[in-house]
Amino acid sequence: MKVLVIGGGGREHAIIKSLKNNNKITKIFAAPGNGGIEKDAECVSIKAVDILAMTDFVLKNAIDYVVVAPDDPLSIGMVDALEEKGVRCFGPKMAAARIESSKVFSKNIMKKYGIPTAAFETFSDADSACEFVNSNKSLYPLVIKADGLALGKGVIIAENKNEALDAIDSIMKEKKFGNSGSNIVIEEFLEGPEVTVLSFTDGETVIPMISSMDHKRALDGNKGLNTGGMGVIAPNPHYTKEIAGICEKTIFLPTINAMKNEGCPFKGCLYFGLMLTKNGPKVIEYNSRFGDPEAQAVLPLLETDLLKIMEAVTDKNLANIEIKWKNNFSACVVLASGGYPEIYETGFPINGLNANGCIESEGTVVYHAGTALKNREFLTSGGRVLGISAIGPSLQNALDKAYKAVDLIKFKGMFYRKDIGRY
Ligand code: AMP
Ligand code: GLY
Repeated sequence: MKVLVIGGGGREHAIIKSLKNNNKITKIFAAPGNGGIEKDAECVSIKAVDILAMTDFVLKNAIDYVVVAPDDPLSIGMVDALEEKGVRCFGPKMAAARIESSKVFSKNIMKKYGIPTAAFETFSDADSACEFVNSNKSLYPLVIKADGLALGKGVIIAENKNEALDAIDSIMKEKKFGNSGSNIVIEEFLEGPEVTVLSFTDGETVIPMISSMDHKRALDGNKGLNTGGMGVIAPNPHYTKEIAGICEKTIFLPTINAMKNEGCPFKGCLYFGLMLTKNGPKVIEYNSRFGDPEAQAVLPLLETDLLKIMEAVTDKNLANIEIKWKNNFSACVVLASGGYPEIYETGFPINGLNANGCIESEGTVVYHAGTALKNREFLTSGGRVLGISAIGPSLQNALDKAYKAVDLIKFKGMFYRKDIGRY
């Protein structure tokens, strides 16, 4: 069986390494992949959003199964295009991917179906948004979100009225996030620990994976700018069995049923970004895909074969399979380029990796996020460069192993958070 994984970051590397455990698979392609992924798959230089070139490649190479991992190809209908040609895929169709690509859509779904989330209003022009802020007696901070995809940066937390008006201006008038800011959501600020729950769903059945905790800020102490994620632990210590039960009943199942009822059943990995408030768990965001770097901490704990689960999702057969997890803890520490998430330089040699892009350290895996392979040398090529993941019998053990492995790696400007798992 020939499989193609679309994307080229740490998440895709984690998916590919998991798929490699399946012996039905004879060949894995990645498009575009990266330097480290080259050691586990054949990388093809096609952009993840190039639907025409991708479909052409899939048909010419008789690929049997395609995993569409990133949000952008999902949001423009990569799965729709491939399925039209009879190709089996893992990932939601464009209409279902709106649950991530349009916050106005997802907030309205939550309102209509009574799924707990922050109270909100949506706006399609700056004047009425400003009028709302000027007349509103609501409490600060106030959260202002661009409707569309914005690399996780489209959320502004305004501490007062002036900041709120500036945020509306920058998103809707100056178009800081391009067309993603044509519409906005203004919502209540929630407080509490954040939990990520990734789930497999075939549109009818939803099976949550092990919970996790991302660390979104760039610097120790949850300081600095928001990033795509600087590290993860799994399971999330705040997510008790009792809370899991509440989430299944009030959030997970209602969301799957809502999408089905709206005529856009969600098939693939649905990411629930939750906040555990004192009034119960609420949805902060949905993503239509595996989290990055959450996948790098959660997938190493998966015991059941990933391809088997993915095919069950595609075939709407998820109710008939059992998903097992290792009774372990997991940690992932992201090594980033100096300057990330703003401007950074690339092209620096990475020291400490062996010829396969790995390190020999038991229970530890290196996932490549932004690397290139030139003349058999790994170079940095992105903001997030590597994710070092480890599993162990306790969270401390997993963290110790991950940080011990981090000590073996060096590149110019490298930085990472030293407090993963302490929040
Ligand atoms: P999002 O892009 O929706 O995931 O938001 C990015 C981050 O902003 C979240 O992980 C939260 O930390 C924060 N955030 C988003 N919405 C809210 C909210 N309503 N209240 C408090 N924090 C929020
Ligand atoms: N780590 C957050 C995300 O994947 O959106």
